[in-house]
Amino acid sequence: MEHLKTGEVISKKRKELGLTQNQLARSLNISFQAVSKWENNTAYPDIEMLPRLAATLNTTVDTLLGYNSVITDYDRRYNTEEYYWGLTPNRICYDIMKLLPPTRPYRVLDIGCGEGKDAVFFAKCGYAVTAFDLSEQGIEKARRLAEYNKVDVQFFKADLFDYRPDTEYHIIFSSGVLHFLPQTLREELCDSLKAHTTDKGLNALNVFVQKPFISRAPDSTKDEETGKLWRSGELFGYYHDWLFHTCREEIFDCNSGGIPHKHCMDTLIAQKEM
Ligand SMILES: C[S@@+](CC[C@H](N)C(=O)[O-])C[C@H]1O[C@@H](n2cnc3c(N)ncnc32)[C@H](O)[C@@H]1O
Repeated sequence: MEHLKTGEVISKKRKELGLTQNQLARSLNISFQAVSKWENNTAYPDIEMLPRLAATLNTTVDTLLGYNSVITDYDRRYNTEEYYWGLTPNRICYDIMKLLPPTRPYRVLDIGCGEGKDAVFFAKCGYAVTAFDLSEQGIEKARRLAEYNKVDVQFFKADLFDYRPDTEYHIIFSSGVLHFLPQTLREELCDSLKAHTTDKGLNALNVFVQKPFISRAPDSTKDEETGKLWRSGELFGYYHDWLFHTCREEIFDCNSGGIPHKHCMDTLIAQKEM
């Protein structure tokens, strides 16, 4: 089981709070070079500093030391022969295909591709697919699935907190992932995705939404527990200047982890109109 290194946890938690290295350093009364060294894993915080650092970053010493991380959770779920999320493509994939059929190898980016079922489906249909996830186990399984289906997909491990596209895509897709991103980083991410979409290209995204009458999923990870679900309609607002093809909020039954529960989800398929 892989743990995030302390430096990566500090960096992730600092960004979640929207703090610069300088601001974090000032609140701890230390130099920003010290923070930079922690985050580059070239030095560890002093043991005596850990409780104060954890409190400032709104987390626990355990989490700082790499336990309870979302990634260990997903690596554990994916460390089996079966595919945790099954192999049936998300229905949004079919909606995307109707809007932009693969008459040529349109470039698709799948953010948080998990074990790769949707990325491989797109590739089998003729799209040129790039896909990433934070889970090493997920990426390994996704590569195996692509190999089994004899398709090429550019899979790689990356963190949604840091990774931003550096090229344009015709389609940017993400399913069941963006709730890991705190509210402070969401508008910036959507702006970056919009900027890296070709004219007439699509962004197809869904997010878990908070509803007071739906309780937490029994198999949710520690990060999901801390309440990063989106506000109802929040996603649609970030795309107010695009053409909406699908704009839907629904409550559905789920049996992941073997315990029946409910989710609320907002789904958007929007098109860039210059
Ligand atoms: C609910 S699963 C969805 C997987 C896939 N999209 C699907 O529908 O089958 C959430 C995925 O988000 C990934 N994830 C969580 N935090 C992430 C991050 N910071 N960067 C990239 N991927 C992340 C997890 O590893 C997991 O594979």
